[in-house]
Amino acid sequence: MIDLRDVRDVNFGGTADTLALLLTDAAAFLTLPSLYGTGLHGLLLAGVAALGGGLWFGWRVGSKLRLTHGGEFDIHSHDAPPAEAGGMHVGFIAHTMQELIVPPSSWLRHAMIVGQSGVGKTVVGSWLMFQQIAGGGGLLWIDGKLDPSNIELLHRMCVWAGRPNDLLIVNPGTPGTSNTYNPLLDGDPDEIASRLGALLPEASNNAAADFYRSSAINAIGALVQATRAAGYAINFADLRILLTRPGALEWLLSDMKKKKVDVADTEQFALFLDQLRQRDRRTGAEVLDADGIRKMFGGLGARLAQFGGGQFGEVMNAYTPEVRIKDVVRAGKILYFALPTMGKGEAAIALARMAVSDFRSAIAAIQALPEGERPEKPFLGFFDEAGSYVTQAWSRMFEQARSARLVMVPAFQTKANLETLGPELRAMVAGNTVTKIIFSPGEPDTADWCADMIGKELREQHTRSESSSASSKGVTVLDRGRGVANAQNAGSSASHSVSLREDYKVSAADLMKLDRGECVVTLEGHQVFHVKVPLVSFESDFIEQTGPFHVRHPATTVPDGLEPLRITQRPGAMR
Ligand SMILES: Nc1ncnc2c1ncn2[C@@H]1O[C@H](COP(=O)(O)OP(=O)(O)O)[C@@H](O)[C@H]1O
Ligand SMILES: [Mg+2]
Repeated sequence: MIDLRDVRDVNFGGTADTLALLLTDAAAFLTLPSLYGTGLHGLLLAGVAALGGGLWFGWRVGSKLRLTHGGEFDIHSHDAPPAEAGGMHVGFIAHTMQELIVPPSSWLRHAMIVGQSGVGKTVVGSWLMFQQIAGGGGLLWIDGKLDPSNIELLHRMCVWAGRPNDLLIVNPGTPGTSNTYNPLLDGDPDEIASRLGALLPEASNNAAADFYRSSAINAIGALVQATRAAGYAINFADLRILLTRPGALEWLLSDMKKKKVDVADTEQFALFLDQLRQRDRRTGAEVLDADGIRKMFGGLGARLAQFGGGQFGEVMNAYTPEVRIKDVVRAGKILYFALPTMGKGEAAIALARMAVSDFRSAIAAIQALPEGERPEKPFLGFFDEAGSYVTQAWSRMFEQARSARLVMVPAFQTKANLETLGPELRAMVAGNTVTKIIFSPGEPDTADWCADMIGKELREQHTRSESSSASSKGVTVLDRGRGVANAQNAGSSASHSVSLREDYKVSAADLMKLDRGECVVTLEGHQVFHVKVPLVSFESDFIEQTGPFHVRHPATTVPDGLEPLRITQRPGAMR
């Protein structure tokens, strides 16, 4: 839509305007046959004069026209920052239709996307991801709200960019179209143990539950350490048996002794098992107590059953998984986690948490690499509907990611999403994301928070004492500097006072007016833009040529020379 407001503020009547008006009038006269005849000369002159006058007025009016989206929302955006190579396009600035390109230095300091359901968070995420793929960068997309069309969209993007072979998908909802993934292989035993903690409820507000949780995590750490020391790769089925069967634990200990594994590791594991031993009343021998084991691992065995069997098991019970997040990051591949949150909510969320934790270990591994070996093109992590799987681990991740040249972009719906684990986490996420992409918030609490993040500025407050409703909201000091005029009513009165008042750059109420696909973007904390986001889609011809997604199975190897544990096949382990 065309906005005429600024045209109304133009004062016509300077020398140039008068001259142009004279020219157009002269043109009209020149065409009058009674005055100058119908000669070609007269008509040509008239044409030139009309053109001159018309062009002038056209320019005068045209230069003040603005393109608007036609919605109720209206702020004056800053000028777009200069385009830089490696910058990320977010969308078009309303009114000017300039492209908003986040400079690489800001982009590397992360971005967050907030807005209620259905406003365009995934659409803007897709646009960012498309640029990442087209630019040859690596991508991790964790999708908290499974939409089967997302896989097809991603597939088309990869084909479009000539990278179909770089696409990996973890999709436990339909194992037939999934690559395999095992989050128990990468990272040190402590990291893996805390990763498994994702299966236990977070208990940050309850000291007793917290103690119980951390002792379970420590116990798993001891177990993973022992299997590693003995040279085994484990999967969820193995772990489940180790956490429930005394025979399996005894077998592991004797195997460590037999193999003459590092004495310290063996001793430590023996000591760990000793805590669980009890004297058998009949035989008098010290045996592992099955009840004690169950207690120590905090019911984790039952939760692991979900991952060790069924559809999840098909995807996750691999000793040589096709997906290893640290390799995905190193090699700049494209990885999509499709989470079946509807049917298998709890397991899906636990998987998302484990994937994030695995990603975190990958970040640490990259950080440890010399500068030259880190990914040249920044990696992108897009965490869609992050509210359902955020954990405390997030708080440190942003800082670590930046130095490893990884960009994190979480998208969530509400402020409360980030506060389920306490206000610190929310502050951490908000404080560590330099670019904020804010869509229409669904509820007042989130709207207030967003308005606060966008910030305040000094505004001129105009008051006229004479007229009945004498107050009008002026434009900002900043806008005035950019030449935007105040909307003044005709017939101004004798007493007109101007005061400066601090006000929200964009109020909570205004944010609620944002339309679908429309957002407020803040850069570096002070630049504010009103942005329209493009929707990435492909033409039907291209879609037909591309065909539907087929999973590709890359070659795999057993990680780090480890031997698959296959505990069920070990003698005596199932006792
Ligand atoms: N920028 C846009 N241009 C056109 N349509 C859009 C745009 N953003 C969102 N939409 C429409 O709204 C729907 C929901 O958007 P989506 O990004 O999935 O919302 P959510 O915020 O829940 O992730 C999309 O399927 C699309 O039809
Ligand atoms: Mg979405």
